[in-house]
Parts: sequence; C-alpha cells; structure tokens
Amino acid sequence: MGSLVVHQFYFTVLIISIARNPRVYGDMYTASADLASVFSLEQQIVDILGELVSKTEAKLAVIRKYLKDYEQSVVKEKIANEEEFMEHLTGNPIHAYRLMKRLCFDWETVEKEIKVDNWQDAVSQLERVRLNERFPKEEDLFGATSALVRLQDTYELNMTELVRGNLWGRETHAELTALDCLFMGKHAFNDGAYARAVEWFEESYILAGMENNETIKQDHIAEIIQYAIDKHDDNLQEAQQNAPMSVLSDSSSFRLPLKEKPAIAQRSEMIRSRKYDEDDFAKFNALCRGEKLLGEDSLSQLKCWFDSRRQPYLLLMPIKVEQHSIETEIYTFYDVLSDEEMETVKELATPLLSRAKVLGKEPSSEMIFSSLRTSKTAWIADEVHPLMDRLARRISLITGLKTNSSRGDAEILQVANYGIGGHYSPHHDYLLKSKTDAEMEKLSPRDKAMGDRIATFMFYLNDVERGGSTAFPRAGVAVRPVRGGAAFWYNLKRNGLGNPDTLHGACPVLLGHKWVSNKWIREIVQTFNRGCLTDPTK
Ligand SMILES: *[C@@H]1O[C@H](CO)[C@@H](O)[C@H](O)[C@H]1NC(C)=O
Ligand SMILES: *[C@@H]1O[C@H](CO)[C@@H](O)[C@H](O)[C@H]1NC(C)=O
Ligand SMILES: *[C@@H]1O[C@H](CO)[C@@H](O)[C@H](O)[C@H]1NC(C)=O
Repeated sequence: MGSLVVHQFYFTVLIISIARNPRVYGDMYTASADLASVFSLEQQIVDILGELVSKTEAKLAVIRKYLKDYEQSVVKEKIANEEEFMEHLTGNPIHAYRLMKRLCFDWETVEKEIKVDNWQDAVSQLERVRLNERFPKEEDLFGATSALVRLQDTYELNMTELVRGNLWGRETHAELTALDCLFMGKHAFNDGAYARAVEWFEESYILAGMENNETIKQDHIAEIIQYAIDKHDDNLQEAQQNAPMSVLSDSSSFRLPLKEKPAIAQRSEMIRSRKYDEDDFAKFNALCRGEKLLGEDSLSQLKCWFDSRRQPYLLLMPIKVEQHSIETEIYTFYDVLSDEEMETVKELATPLLSRAKVLGKEPSSEMIFSSLRTSKTAWIADEVHPLMDRLARRISLITGLKTNSSRGDAEILQVANYGIGGHYSPHHDYLLKSKTDAEMEKLSPRDKAMGDRIATFMFYLNDVERGGSTAFPRAGVAVRPVRGGAAFWYNLKRNGLGNPDTLHGACPVLLGHKWVSNKWIREIVQTFNRGCLTDPTK
C-alpha cells in the first residue's frame, strides 16, 4: 500500500513541476531512443521499396526480352519498302516459326508477368508502416528543424561547414541540400528570425548553383532572399520607430546585423518565464560553447582533490572531486557509477520513456499532453531494481545527505534522455521557494513535509560527443558530462532560501546522445546533515 501512495505522490509532483516549470513546457527535442525506432521504420520502408524494385525489374526484364526477340528477328530485316519487307518476312520459314513461338509461347509468360500486381502488395505493406504510432508527424519535422536552428544559434556554427556535415570540428557524412536549406530558412523566417533566414537562403543559393539548378533554380531563391531582406528591414525600422531615439540608429543602413541571437522565438519563450534575462541567456550560450566566464583569479582558486568524504567506506577508494565555483557550491564527482550500473539504469528507463506519452493522453489536463510529448524522462521506483537503493546509499555516502525516498528524504530516481538538439532552458530546481501562497496551498501535505529540493545529484550515464554540458550562467560554470561521473550542487542557500545563482540548463546536444539521472534531495530531513560540504577541503 505504501508504494502505491508513493507513486501517486510522485506523479503529482511531476504534474506540478511540468505545469510550473517552463523548461519542460515548450521544449521540442527528439529523444535518441525514439529516433532509433523511427530509423528502423524507415529501414522497413526501404526494404519494401527494395523488394518492389527487384520485382518490378524482373517484370521489366521479361517484357524487355520479348521486345528484344522481336527486334532481333523482325526489325533487323526492316527495309524501306513496306511491301517488300512483308514479303521478306512471310517467305521465310524461320521468321514464321519465331512469330508463332512468340505469340503462342513467349507471350503467355509476358502476360502472366504483367498481370501480377506487385504494387498493391507494397502499398498495403507501406500503409502498415505508416500506421505505426512512431511514424513521425508534422510536428516532429518541426521539432527536428527547430533543433538544427537552435544548435546553429547556440554554437554559432559556421553555416558553410554545417551544411557540409562539419559539426563543431567533427566531420560527418551528413549533408544538407539546397532544398533543405530553403526549408530551414523558411522555418527561421516563420519564427521571425529574418537575418537567420537570410543566412540559410544564401546557403541554399550557393548549393543550388553547385547542384546545377536541378532541384531548385537560383533565380527563385534570389527572389526569396530579397523578400526576407525586405521583411527584415521593415521589422528593424518598425522596432526603431517604436524604440526611444538612439544616436546609433541609422535607418538608412539596411545592412543585416551579423548576429541576431538568440533567435527571437527561443528568446521570448525563455524570457516569458521571467526567471532570467537576456544576460543569462547570452552567458548560457557562451558557456555551452565552452567559453570561460570566470576570471583567472577565480579559476586559480578552484581545486580538484581525492576525498573519502569522511566515510570509512570510501577510505580505500577515495572519490575524485572537482570544484567548479567558490561562491556557488557546484562539484563534479568522478567515477561514481560502473559501466554495468549505467547500462542497467538506461535499460530500466527506456520502456518508461515511451510510456510517458501514453500517460499524457489522459484527459485530466491538456498541459500534460503537450509537455510529456516532448519530455523524455522516466521515474524509476525503488522497488523496480535493487540498484535504486544502492545508488541512493552511494549518494548519501558521497554527499552526507539523507536520500531514502520511501522516507521522503529524496525523490525517486529520474532518468532523462536527450536526443539531437535536446536541451533544457535555464531553470531552478527548487519547486516551492518560487511559489505564491495560493500555489503552496495546492501542494500535498507530504510535499510540504518533504520540503524543497535542497540539492541536485545528477549522474552522467554517457559521454556526449559534442555539446550537452550543464551550464550555470550566473555562477559562470559549465559542467561537462563525463560518463560515470556526477554533478552535484545545492539549490538552497544555508539560510534556506532558494539560491538564484543555481540557475542552470542543459546545453543542446550537438552530436551524440545524452543520458542523465537525477536524484533530487529534499530539505526537511537534512537539518543536521548539511555542513559536510561547508569546507569540502577538510
Ligand atoms: C566558414 O567556413 C568556410 C569553409 O571552411 C570558410 O571559408 C569561411 O570563412 C567560414 N566563415 C566564417 C564566418 O568563419
Ligand atoms: C543556375 O541558374 C542561374 C539563373 O537562375 C544561372 O545564372 C546559373 O548560371 C545557373 N547555374 C548553373 C550551374 O546552371
Ligand atoms: C529506506 O527506509 C526503508 C524504511 O525505513 C528501509 O526499509 C530501506 O532499507 C531504506 N533504504 C535505504 C536505501 O536506506
């Protein structure tokens, strides 16, 4: 009975955090686990088409053979005079024999072959693939397009290199065509990111030339570019008219600004939550790109050490700890999970990730539907596998905090899978501190009893090839995901208030996948435990 209550409880927390937390709402990304099934759907289509091609080719071969036979005997004899030609044919016993053989024998094969309908078979097989619930829909294309635009934005990717498959210095065989770039440009245009759109259209123009105008004509793209430039300038003028007079404004200059970052839609989505401003956004993107925001003095004070956390258990195998910031307590612990454990967590989570979609279909709230559709997270109850308890104990050993979720010290383990472009906009992990009195009243007594999320312990379950750091714009820290390691930080200050400097987000995944697993440690029971990290060097 106890576990049932616990489940119910976590589901409530999940709904609340989705409803309140903008990072989940409006996030369009594709989880790699889902993408894999779409790739295998396409494989099925390719197999069906391949079979159709070989059957059709076999059919064509039979028809061609008949035609060739005819050609070899009849057409070769062709002479200008029609009358003479007929005489020639009819007077020859071999021709007579072959004529009869063709029509009485060969023709039968041809007719039989023509009557076999390979198409219908393929059509019904293809229909079946298309009916699969994983078959992508228009909004998935929209999501994948947004992901590319976002990646280009965040990482300031060189457009020329991007379309040729070079992702931040890593050469791949993936390329975009003129039509792809045109599509990307239209997407940016519809988002109101006109300068971005022009960049894509210009790349499309170059590619169209290289493709010899085969898929799309350069003339046509040139018109589109001009249209986008006009739109951009109108927009700029309008903004200038509405803005207070500025000495710098020069409306006669229609030069496109080099940068129009962040893309308008993305920025407004983030600003709307009012938890962060443009400065946070710019710093977040800079951290994602690997830029250093802390000065040399701050960086030189940071330490890296081996720590037994004053735990006898860890004395023999101290943990490597890296400190990321002096003011905000953010750490990385290295090698805290084994390969086997990481695989187990991913395996346990994978089926639950897809189930999140089904849950969203419940009529209780439309918010859940739109959010869970794009949020690829899973909660793993403690009873599911003994590893859950083991991990909770390990986190407790490392942090000195209580983590028993059945007692309400912490939440059950959450697993998140980010696909290409997958990201979380900057947010705070504390749930209660930012709530109004009215919102607080809606919380369950148990939720209030557990208190807020005092700390976050985030396991990294794999290495991310490019991108995917956890960035803290206000603390000026980016934590790189390291397979088997974990990030840890306190969300609350020692006085119990939320620490706004823990604003953090997940940088978009540029290449590869990202799996993390979160343990949110709650506040109330920790009264006597915090302090273990007051002076982490001791
Ligand atoms: C982008 O890359 C291309 C090809 O490597 C290079 O010629 C061009 O100068 C780069 N553009 C910028 C703005 O760095
Ligand atoms: C493509 O078309 C444009 C005009 O639309 C023309 O100027 C250009 O030479 C063409 N390029 C090629 C490679 O055919
Ligand atoms: C958590 O508490 C329950 C009940 O008090 C206990 O049975 C369980 O072993 C504890 N789990 C851990 C990981 O300490």
